[in-house]
Amino acid sequence: MEEKLSQILAEVRGETGNVLVLTGAGISAESGIPTFRGKEGYWVVGSRNYMPEQMATNAMFRTNPAEVWRWYLYRFSVCRSAQPNEGHRALVELERALDDRFTLVTQNIDGLHRRAGNSEARTYCIHGDAAWVRCGAECGAGKKPLPDLQLIRSKDTPLSADDQAKLTCSGCGGWMRPHVLWFDEYYDEENYRMDSALRAAQKARLLLVVGTSGATNLPMQIGRLAWRQGTALVDVNPEPNPFAELAESCDRGFFARGNATARLPEIVKALTA
Ligand code: APR
Repeated sequence: MEEKLSQILAEVRGETGNVLVLTGAGISAESGIPTFRGKEGYWVVGSRNYMPEQMATNAMFRTNPAEVWRWYLYRFSVCRSAQPNEGHRALVELERALDDRFTLVTQNIDGLHRRAGNSEARTYCIHGDAAWVRCGAECGAGKKPLPDLQLIRSKDTPLSADDQAKLTCSGCGGWMRPHVLWFDEYYDEENYRMDSALRAAQKARLLLVVGTSGATNLPMQIGRLAWRQGTALVDVNPEPNPFAELAESCDRGFFARGNATARLPEIVKALTA
């Protein structure tokens, strides 16, 4: 491990302060889930008929809910068949060692942190979660577990009448929607734990960022907040990105270049030794 990195981690370990971990699609890449902006990324490939980012909008859902569901159920099937990797498992170790000093903010809807063993209570899914649905008309029926739909699907698997019946809101008879944050929507506390994530950032002594390109708003707010308040900042990513720049522009910052499965176990070991 690089000298400067082990120094930063030793200081944090000595301080017994709070650690905030912020993850993106990169931590699940080695579990076989495509990232969004990588070569085979979801926003690069998208669906046959629509521009990728069009699919992830409320506007598209209002005009063509079946097409949006067809695409999400394909993505959910990819998530369902993936397994947590060493990167996910290292963060479970970190939570076990730190207890309430640990908070995990994830942009991933894949549920792999939960399946690896991180607690629901300390994990904020700020872009939603594939395991839940809610009423598309927000009729008040609230969040429900994803119905047991057939989840062995390809991009072209049509939505069946049975799927559609299961995706009907019991409250108003309208469509249920995936519990995910779409591009034409805003973060909030009720659905996406925005305030909780920012509060955790204010209290953090270390911000550990893993596998994100910094393309979205709330994660960058968290990064800049940490930078402004002098929180130690470590970024794990094989590629340069805005969080690596933030880390390299502060004294207690380090760009730990590399894959999550290679870098996270040693970082967690250094933080918990
Ligand atoms: N380990 C660590 N990082 C990796 C790995 C790996 N094995 N493989 C790729 N990465 C990095 C890439 O270099 C890139 O910086 O992961 C990042 C993935 O970036 P994106 O595809 O943009 O995904 P993410 O940052 O999570 O996107 C944020 O955008 O579209 C929305 O809702 C979507 O949650 C998503 C959000």
